[in-house]
Amino acid sequence: MIYQPKCKIEIETVKATSIHDVDFDTLEFGKIFTDHMFVCDYENGAWKTPKIMPYQALSIEPSARVFHYGQAVFEGMKAYKDADDMIWLFRPDENFNRINKSAVRLAIPEFPEAYFFEGLKTLLNLESDWIKKGLGNSLYIRPFVIATEQAISASPSNAYKFMIICSPAKAYYTGDVRVLIAEKYSRSANGGVGFAKAAGNYAAQFYPTNLANKKGLQQIIWTDAGTHENLEEAGTMNIFFRIGDKLITAPNNDRILDGVTRKSLIQLAADNNIECEVRHLKVKELKDAARNGTLKEIFGAGTAAVVSPIIAFEHAGEVFELGKFKDSYANFLKEKLMNIQYNIDEDVHNWRYKV
Ligand code: COI
Repeated sequence: MIYQPKCKIEIETVKATSIHDVDFDTLEFGKIFTDHMFVCDYENGAWKTPKIMPYQALSIEPSARVFHYGQAVFEGMKAYKDADDMIWLFRPDENFNRINKSAVRLAIPEFPEAYFFEGLKTLLNLESDWIKKGLGNSLYIRPFVIATEQAISASPSNAYKFMIICSPAKAYYTGDVRVLIAEKYSRSANGGVGFAKAAGNYAAQFYPTNLANKKGLQQIIWTDAGTHENLEEAGTMNIFFRIGDKLITAPNNDRILDGVTRKSLIQLAADNNIECEVRHLKVKELKDAARNGTLKEIFGAGTAAVVSPIIAFEHAGEVFELGKFKDSYANFLKEKLMNIQYNIDEDVHNWRYKV
C-alpha cells in the first residue's frame, strides 16, 4: 500500500519497475536511479503542488538560468533498512535546514518543511525494495533545486524545480584514499559560499582534483585561501586528524560545509571519551606529527563517504605514508555511527527518523 502523505502530493507510479535489471552487488556510486522522482515547481512566488512521477528526463529550455549562472543547491542523505524491514533516515532535519540555508545564500526561495518530509516519506515507501538490508547498503538520496526561468540576465530566477532522486549505494571509496594538500587552488573564500552545498563549489574542484588524480591521489584536502596553512576539508567530506590520542577537526565557518557526519562523529567521540579538538590544524603541525610519529590517522567523514581512512598525503612534493592503523578511531566511530543509522544500537541523541 502506498504511504498516504499528510499534504497533497500527486502520485503517478511506474508501470514496471527497473529493479530487476540492477546488480546490487556491483553498484558504482550514483550511477543507477530508482523508479520514481519527486518534483515541485516554484512559479509566481509560490511552491506548487508536489508530484511523484516515474524517473525520467526533464525538458528544460537552454535559456534556463541554472545553465548560465549555476543557481543550484543540493543535499546528500541516505535511507537505511533494519533487520525488520523498517526504513530509517539519519538526522534529516539537518539536511532540510541546510538546503534552505544554502538556498538563501544562492537567492533561492526556501522549501516548505511539510513538502520535504512528506515527499521523502512517500518516495521512500514507494522505493522500499531498492533499500537493501545489511551494513553498508543504503539508498543515497539527492534533493536539489535548480533555477528554471528562461532568462539570461545575471539575476536570480523567478522559477525553480525542487527535486529528489534516489540511487542505491554501497561505499563511495572502494580502494585506498591518498590525498594532496592544496598549495595553490582554493575551495572557498571568506564571505563566499563554502558553507553552502552550492553545485558550483563542487564543479570548481574538478580541475585541481583531476591534477591530483593524475598523480595517483584521489582527493584534495583544501587549505584556507588566504595562507594555505590551515587544513579545512576535502572535496567530498570533512576531515579528521588523530595526533597521539586526540582528534582534531576544523571549526565551521563560512568556508566549511557544516557536515552532518562530522558533527555526529564529534558527538560520538565525546560520548566515548575520545578527546576531539575543534580547531585549525596547520599543515606544518601535520607534517611535524607525521615526521615524529605522533600522526596516527587521517579520515574523511561525509554522507556518501561515511568514514573513509586516508592512507597517505602529499604536500609540497613530499609524500607521507600513514599505512593502515588497526585500532583506529575511524573504525570505532564508523561502527558506532552505522549501528545507530541501521537501528542496531540505542539512539540516545534521537538522530534516527522512522520513515
Ligand atoms: C555527500 O556526501 O552526500 C555529498 O554530497 C558529497 C558528494 C559530492 C558525493
